[in-house]
Amino acid sequence: MNVLVTGGTGFIGSHTVVQLIEAGHTAVIVDNLCNSSVKVLDGIEAICGKKPLFYKADTRDRAALQKIFSENKIDAVIHFAGLKAVGESVKIPLEYYHNNLTGTFVLLEVMKDAGCKKMVFSSSATVYGMENEAPFREDMPTGATNPYGQTKRMLEQILTDVAAADPEWSVVLLRYFNPIGAHPSGLIGENPNGIPNNLFPYIAQVAVGKLPCLSVYGNDYPTPDGTGVRDYIHVVDLANGHLKALEYAEKHTGTEAINLGTSRGTSVLELVHAFEKASGVPIRYRIVDRRPGDIAACFADTEKAKKLLGWKAEFGIEEMCRDGWNYMLRQK
Ligand code: NAD
Ligand code: UFG
Repeated sequence: MNVLVTGGTGFIGSHTVVQLIEAGHTAVIVDNLCNSSVKVLDGIEAICGKKPLFYKADTRDRAALQKIFSENKIDAVIHFAGLKAVGESVKIPLEYYHNNLTGTFVLLEVMKDAGCKKMVFSSSATVYGMENEAPFREDMPTGATNPYGQTKRMLEQILTDVAAADPEWSVVLLRYFNPIGAHPSGLIGENPNGIPNNLFPYIAQVAVGKLPCLSVYGNDYPTPDGTGVRDYIHVVDLANGHLKALEYAEKHTGTEAINLGTSRGTSVLELVHAFEKASGVPIRYRIVDRRPGDIAACFADTEKAKKLLGWKAEFGIEEMCRDGWNYMLRQK
């Protein structure tokens, strides 16, 4: 298949591009590089011996998207492009709504004009909101507590409506839990600019001495050690889930929301200790107040992914820490 990957130089996109190429598909990337670097293309080439076709463009740029669709016969789109920092979305909501919503509207319209009606969309476990209790199942009501989460929830609804109005559309809404780790080669991974918002890159930066100490946001949650529990998933497993979703979209029409997680919960302190073990480096941390908007425990029910996609995560926390650390060591 010829697959357009929006946000394909980003963290999850780049790992998915590697697997698409390895599976014999042709990957075409469109990314505006607002949160990634063109150097990622070298990493992809070093891993799979092939450089994907790359367009530096914004998904809101209709003419640029039309050019991509006219120059390539695109069979399906995996749509990663979007802004993703929860805290930032509260401060600059308009940018988040404009980027994530408008970018998707323009993309959908260009796809429709080109007769391409298959999309795998990056949604998030954030759509389960604050009211549900883990394990989260796809049929639970959705909610959102910040503009970022709202964009995911709204886009799920919009894509569902588009597919309901035209029976030729096939949409898979993938609800990711917490992707971490890196490609085992250490050639691609996640190394955000500035101070990371997320736990894993924060721990990794403490380990290499870029940051002095991890703040653990609360140890009074109703969890085994009092710290927040999340369903961390190796980014390579997550990428593989996208290939399975593409296969599913080829054979089915309509919309399905599917969790991609491991169904296992890991606490902040468990992740800290697993990282210490993998790296051999002690991680300095201190307990601070809870972070507003955080829930105690978030992990997936993964039965639907097994049933519909024949997919389940293979890697555990040890491999996630090992590969994330291996990548970090190459960044120094
Ligand atoms: P990322 O920031 O590494 O990748 C996103 C890519 O999209 C970046 O390369 C960025 O430059 C690009 N981009 C952003 N807006 C664009 C636009 N308007 N036009 C073109 N390119 C644009 O993030 P990621 O972690 O790889 O996440 C990918 C997707 O998965 C996002 O939609 C994100 O919301 C979603 N998601 C991520 C997580 C996570 O924890 N990483 C969890 C759930 C869902
Ligand atoms: N945490 C700390 N210290 C930090 C950062 C995080 O203790 O410096 C804790 C949090 O309180 C939470 C856990 O580590 O208990 C994980 O936090 P992350 O910020 O890494 O991840 P979240 O589960 O809060 O959110 C992530 C993404 C969201 C996405 C969500 C569900 O940032 O975009 O997973 O997929 F919506």
